[in-house]
Amino acid sequence: MNETYTVGYMGMTQMSRKLLEVQNLSVRYPILSGTVFKRTVGHIYAVDSISFTLEEGDILGLVGESGCGKSSAARSLVKLVPAHSGSVFWKGTDILPLSFREMLPIRKEIQMIFQDPYSSLDPRMTAGSIIAEPLHIYNKRAQASMSGSEIRSRVKELMTMVGLSPHYENRYPHEFSGGQRQRIGIARALSLDPTLLVADEAVSALDVSIQAQIINLLRKLQEDFKLTYIFIAHDLAVVRYITNRVAVMYLGRIVEEGDTEELFNNPLHPYTRALLSSVPVPDPKLESKRKRIPLEGEVPSPNKLHKGCVFYERCANRMERCKNEKPYRARMTDNHKVACFLHHSRVDFSNSE
Ligand SMILES: Nc1ncnc2c1ncn2[C@@H]1O[C@H](COP(=O)(O)OP(=O)(O)OP(=O)(O)O)[C@@H](O)[C@H]1O
Ligand SMILES: [Mg+2]
Repeated sequence: MNETYTVGYMGMTQMSRKLLEVQNLSVRYPILSGTVFKRTVGHIYAVDSISFTLEEGDILGLVGESGCGKSSAARSLVKLVPAHSGSVFWKGTDILPLSFREMLPIRKEIQMIFQDPYSSLDPRMTAGSIIAEPLHIYNKRAQASMSGSEIRSRVKELMTMVGLSPHYENRYPHEFSGGQRQRIGIARALSLDPTLLVADEAVSALDVSIQAQIINLLRKLQEDFKLTYIFIAHDLAVVRYITNRVAVMYLGRIVEEGDTEELFNNPLHPYTRALLSSVPVPDPKLESKRKRIPLEGEVPSPNKLHKGCVFYERCANRMERCKNEKPYRARMTDNHKVACFLHHSRVDFSNSE
């Protein structure tokens, strides 16, 4: 089924500009035991065979409860954690088997923005040197030849781009507010002129009003530089505002994926329905009608692989087959895919993965 989906989709995307294609990507962490001689006694199946595609200009939201594997998935894309299996095609090349040296030009194109602007910036470095650091490293490793004054003027340009006065380049992180620090993090991520920015909870640690400023900055940068984003966030209202596509993860798997408005207006997977039912609606009439769907029980530990649907234990709509059969992600419309047997009778299986 996977093959049918891939071939069909590749045919279609020849017209659009596909940047990233993730196929059956899995990430596992070993569970170690023993005091002196550590041995692996099991695995955390943090990401279990996820697939998605990013086209140029996409802002893909990755949502799901804490521990569902969002950060592991994002980090494995930039090889910060090793993938167990699968493929990550960047502009057509599978980057997972590439050596460090072969990865250099690609690493430049995919940058991450992290959650905590307090701990992700080195307190002993000035703002200017934090922003310039990737330029120095890249210059050295790729034997490029940017002069010191070119780097200094690039730093000033980057600071202006993210709304920081270039006069602050000699200040240290503790002299900035949380929002300003996140701007430094963003300037640093932009320094090598990337194509894809992976923002992992980039605004979660900030006050609401500051969050809005940073989100608006990210949107503006996206428009100005035609950037593509993977945007990981807990706040679903923020995800709805900034993204054009959303993938919903549960226990390492993507259970539903679609255009943001389609998915928010017509969630199909019982997990997505429950998750989205907790988001307030701005329209007071609709808000008064909003029914919360409670999620029963806890997220099970990801220390085993599931034979059937990952949501089986907590699903109010579960059926016998869900226990032992894995629901494939089926394409409901061009822009909406769901992995749930409740909906499979309505689709053409040639489009499933
Ligand atoms: N370095 C690691 N070693 C072992 N287990 C890990 C490691 N990093 C993450 N995990 C486990 O992998 C699973 C997925 O974690 P991950 O951080 O990817 O989830 P997340 O969706 O980003 O969660 P959050 O929303 O809290 O950031 C969790 O069970 C987590 O405990
Ligand atoms: Mg995370």
